[in-house]
Amino acid sequence: MDRNMALEFVRVTEAAALGAAKWMGLGNDKAADQAAVDYMRKAFSSIAFDGTVVIGEGERDEAPMLYIGEKIGRTGCQGPKLDIAIDPLEGTTLTAQGRPNAISVVAAAPRGHFLNAPDTYMKKIAVGPCAKGAIDINAPVKDNVKAVAKKLGKDVKSITVVILDRPRHADIIRDVRETGARIYLIQDGDVAAAVATAFPPDSEIDMLLGIGGAPEGVLAAAALQCLGGDMQGQLKPRNDEEIKRAAKMGVKNIDKVFTIDELAKGEDIMFAATGVTNGSFLKGVKFTATGAMTHSVVMRSKTGTIRYIEALHKFEKKPVY
Ligand code: FBP
Repeated sequence: MDRNMALEFVRVTEAAALGAAKWMGLGNDKAADQAAVDYMRKAFSSIAFDGTVVIGEGERDEAPMLYIGEKIGRTGCQGPKLDIAIDPLEGTTLTAQGRPNAISVVAAAPRGHFLNAPDTYMKKIAVGPCAKGAIDINAPVKDNVKAVAKKLGKDVKSITVVILDRPRHADIIRDVRETGARIYLIQDGDVAAAVATAFPPDSEIDMLLGIGGAPEGVLAAAALQCLGGDMQGQLKPRNDEEIKRAAKMGVKNIDKVFTIDELAKGEDIMFAATGVTNGSFLKGVKFTATGAMTHSVVMRSKTGTIRYIEALHKFEKKPVY
């Protein structure tokens, strides 16, 4: 993938973040999400590429825009053929409630390099580069925590595990506590949490455990491929309908454990994210008298470069905002 493409895609997450951030704290989840989707779609339409959404806002019958299978990119363009994974607003409720860590996310890869995950749940385990190879989603939680501690050369009591705060995670939380490891519970946003495992010493997070969205699992794998981290995922459908949807998308064995390479093939991935609300990973959108500041990250798996971009947007010159 042309490296300049990565910088094009950051405009897309900037646009979505600018749209969603206007709704911060206004208590309207739907409006915040819709603004992110509208702005992201508009930004995609100016990029010269031949894109297909593989992780999107849902399937064609349930999402009017950025649905799975939708063609995106400048109309009639002969540019590179890419598969696109998006979450225009990862942390919809966080944004509506004015809480930290909401981001807008896009990942791109050559055709067929992302798992076509249905909009269901996924059991996930993720770590940063220093613990690569130490995880096994089929092994007991306690064994994983101990193996990660050993690989990192840390005492188990110095390990921090990030987990979505959900009743379904009661057993995982109990098991982690029994090892003596520390726990960081989050309300939402397990993409940023997975990324945090790869950012020591800035982040104290060593591993992510638990069940979250499957689309978010593919996005997290894309980011961790750029960062050299590791991840495994297993779909956790809620009903037969979701099992059928998964089969339609190519997942015949619903119990299959996906490695990071099967979630997102690592050789040529681009990942971009922009902060919507302030977070440990990215600063949120800051509105000024004449425009807004955004804070983004762009990463490429080919080179491993991690580039932070602070942008000042002048609204008088960009009437779209
Ligand atoms: P959205 O903001 O896109 O709704 O996702 C937020 C999120 O917390 C994800 O980060 C996570 O994977 C998923 O929701 C967990 O789902 P649930 O809230 O149903 O437990």
